[in-house]
Amino acid sequence: MCGIVGVLGKHEAAPLLVEALKRLEYRGYDSAGIATVNEGKLDRRRAVGKLVNLSDLLVHNPIAGKSGIGHTRWATHGGPSVKNAHPHQAGDVAVVHNGIIENFMNLRAELNEKNINYETDTDTEAVVLLTKYFLSQGLSPTEAAKKTISRLTGAFALAFLFQGEDDLIVVARQGSPLVIGHGDGEIYVGSDAIALAHLTNKITYLNEGDFAQISRKKIQVEDKNGIIVNRKIQNINLKSAKADKAGYKHFMAKEIAEQPLTLATTLENYLHEDPCDIILPKNNLKLTQIESLTMVACGTAFYAALTAKYWFEKIARVRVEVDVASEFRYREPPILKETTAVFVSQSGETADTLAALRYMSSHNANIISIVNVIGSSIARESNLVLPLHVGAEIGVASTKAFTAQLTVLALLALKIAKAKATITENQYQKFLDELKRLPEVISQALCLEPNIQKIAGELASYNDVIFLGRGAMYPLAMEGALKLKEISYIHAEGYPSGELKHGPIALIDKKVPVVVIAPKDTLFDKSVSNMQEVMARSGKIILISCESGLELAGHGSWATITMPDVSEFTAPIIYAVPMQLLAYHTALSKGTDVDQPRNLAKSVTVE
Ligand code: M6R
Repeated sequence: MCGIVGVLGKHEAAPLLVEALKRLEYRGYDSAGIATVNEGKLDRRRAVGKLVNLSDLLVHNPIAGKSGIGHTRWATHGGPSVKNAHPHQAGDVAVVHNGIIENFMNLRAELNEKNINYETDTDTEAVVLLTKYFLSQGLSPTEAAKKTISRLTGAFALAFLFQGEDDLIVVARQGSPLVIGHGDGEIYVGSDAIALAHLTNKITYLNEGDFAQISRKKIQVEDKNGIIVNRKIQNINLKSAKADKAGYKHFMAKEIAEQPLTLATTLENYLHEDPCDIILPKNNLKLTQIESLTMVACGTAFYAALTAKYWFEKIARVRVEVDVASEFRYREPPILKETTAVFVSQSGETADTLAALRYMSSHNANIISIVNVIGSSIARESNLVLPLHVGAEIGVASTKAFTAQLTVLALLALKIAKAKATITENQYQKFLDELKRLPEVISQALCLEPNIQKIAGELASYNDVIFLGRGAMYPLAMEGALKLKEISYIHAEGYPSGELKHGPIALIDKKVPVVVIAPKDTLFDKSVSNMQEVMARSGKIILISCESGLELAGHGSWATITMPDVSEFTAPIIYAVPMQLLAYHTALSKGTDVDQPRNLAKSVTVE
């Protein structure tokens, strides 16, 4: 995973690199480092943990130089330590790397035979050692980097800096994104355009297999066949200001609280008033001909897709398959002609989702993506992009992106349903009215925070929690469990309520609270029966339903959360709020690092 940056500047590089790395911390925060060339001399600083540790180190031990590269790490090969932190250096070359060098074991063996030994546990060290070796054979820095890259398999974005070269950075991308930024007499590189937003809005996206030799005055890009190509400079409209917490203790708290606003913006971007209709960006979709959809995503985005399956099937009568991206392409699923595939990803950079998209593209599928980051790799490789319009999501635990993903998916389902006439105009308008009420009803759900905070205070002392839901509440049960485990480190599982009796009910005792998500819908009675089975075994129930649901079934629960009355259609979006608040306040009680929980990264750019 990891984020990489580079600067060939007019001023000191270190502050620019650190600021750019701050913007890439969503890619990992196990360690960080920078290397510079100052009057020809290569130097570097590295620190374990978050970027702030590197900043502190630089205060006491500054580093000079107007050319430099930087890295923020999410450990893959080798634990977080200074030794394993990037930039890696061997002799006259330093390298930062995002991705995985899959053949590093073979390269290591080959280098060992040449009596070149490893000092770190990383795959990346193979890159610097090989380059050092090629330099010792008389190759120029650019030739040595190119020859090294020709020996690598796997996914990577790489930036090389060389001793004695104040005006040279060599970069390459294969499988991991990389951009070049154009400043006034300065050139930058970064894992994404956001990293460079404080420096420039003039961005060149490198293509798969590109190799570039960069100096302040000249950038030479070669494509994967070694042919010199011209990659255009685009003006990217990115806010340069880094999002702030607006007075909240955590980004996650802010992102939960702003959902009425973010959903209003999402809806505004897709709804046309008078007559009310859903307007999609220009596309070649033949909506009436869509019989089936393949949906692929990871984590929270996967649960959004799984929820949408219920809408697409029930309302639009479209068959839907939903796959976890990491399991998709290695199964080599046959792709039928005219397949439409939907990829859901907040970041638009998730490596597994991107790889699945490319598999689908190579089989000529029509690609729709639902992303938050508009210039992302997934967006750029799609036929139709449906943006979330919720602004940057910084908290590692996805919240406002989830409710917006659900909303956009609901809109797409309705649009198809209308085109296929599986619903009447009246039903269509009724569904749209329900969506338009989302900001208001989500605001009401947010008012439940004090009660949820109390429950979370109790929950924090348990080691295991089970979440149950039926129908469209089943994916939400899994999402609730994911939220809780990722930020509070409490073991949690989401199950379909009806499945509990087929095994997991053996887990139930007083020490395992069970969160039951049971809006008063067509499956309410069945959910209540399943809940009774848990109660009969001394299970502690946290029941989430509306007032009338709780009146009927709340008796005997350990705790209850009284939700507003909502329609069956929008319930998964609104019931997401107590899932988020429960996880957030449990994590607060436990004192974990809510925005940057251990072992995680916001965007997972390795397979
Ligand atoms: O950027 P993406 O939506 O593709 O990310 C997918 C998952 O990595 C992400 O949803 C992850 O599960 C979140 N941390 C969940 O809160």
